[in-house]
Amino acid sequence: MRDDVHFVARCARGLEPQLATEILQRELGSITAIGHRSVHFRAWRPYDTGVTGLRTADDVFLLGARGRDVGRTKAGLPELAALVREADPEELLRHRTVLATTERPPGVEVSASFLGRRSFNRYDAEDAVGDALAARLKVPYHPRRTQGAPPPDYAPWRLTLDGTRATLLLRVTPRPLHRRPYKQSTVPGSLHPPLAAAMTRLADIGPGHTVLDPCCGAGTLLIEAALAHPEAGRYRGYDIDPTALEAARANRTTASLDRIRIQRGDAGRLPLPNGTVDRIVCNPPWGTQVEVKASLAKVPTAWWRELTRLLTPTGTAVLLLPTPTPVSPAIEAGLLPTHTQRIHLSGTPTYLIKLEKEKPR
Ligand SMILES: C[S@@+](CC[C@H](N)C(=O)[O-])C[C@H]1O[C@@H](n2cnc3c(N)ncnc32)[C@H](O)[C@@H]1O
Repeated sequence: MRDDVHFVARCARGLEPQLATEILQRELGSITAIGHRSVHFRAWRPYDTGVTGLRTADDVFLLGARGRDVGRTKAGLPELAALVREADPEELLRHRTVLATTERPPGVEVSASFLGRRSFNRYDAEDAVGDALAARLKVPYHPRRTQGAPPPDYAPWRLTLDGTRATLLLRVTPRPLHRRPYKQSTVPGSLHPPLAAAMTRLADIGPGHTVLDPCCGAGTLLIEAALAHPEAGRYRGYDIDPTALEAARANRTTASLDRIRIQRGDAGRLPLPNGTVDRIVCNPPWGTQVEVKASLAKVPTAWWRELTRLLTPTGTAVLLLPTPTPVSPAIEAGLLPTHTQRIHLSGTPTYLIKLEKEKPR
């Protein structure tokens, strides 16, 4: 069995710093590289199942082999078989069996992605790697090109070509980490759970805190927060839409977090006393995918005044916004931005913004 084990954790573009910090805080290993949507690390304990508990990662992989990017044309594809020759797929599968407590997979599937234009498509790259892996492991290969979604128990290999390097990876868990078991119900605009986890980390939730999401949708932020910070005092979510409330309650129950209170309310006038909320986490409706309703639609600045009214003097809010500019009405309402970070979600830039209540002079 190996003791020099390298992992690659993948994340949404822009969340690499949060993911690297989480890896270090969980004492999983030393960071060896931070790249486009990825953090590479060398494990301190090769069989630490903590890697499967990363909350800000979309996924975590064992590193199989790294080589030169094969270039833009089909002529380079045979080099991918050399990448497979360099790897030790048997050893990687044995390692994965211990980490994810799975059986030895009966077959191979490959998912490929690349940056930049190529004269081949993803299926060409997948087949080049899949055929080579199947031949070495003496198991069947499942080509997505002709057979669609792969059987769930096949070994999930991944190939990335970033313009400089080709990387062969083996996913550790049978399901991607971003697919949370609690998230059975969803609503339009519902948050990607690893991004929700990154937002709750930024919120710095502490013992006894009251944590609020005034537009909670399917409850992702509150559930991620409550899973990571059971020490907080109270979790409260509001939404104007009964369908969203139903989804949030269903997810909360699946997560066994019935302590999160979910109620109908208008985020511009919530039934909570002044200065009683320590942390606000929210991705409010932007009026594109999700309609802005009630007081937020009538007086958009009502939202910022309400946040200021609710926060304690040391309170903070972590919000996901479509542009960094709406922070000016926030400043007028007495909230100062202390952190702005650009994130790309499905190619669309969004902004993670932390605001603190302005101290009276
Ligand atoms: C982007 S979604 C939130 C998604 C949520 N974070 C999740 O992960 O599922 C915005 C939510 O704001 C709600 N909303 C719209 N206007 C509102 C208002 N005035 N008060 C409270 N909620 C409102 C919508 O019903 C929607 O569920």
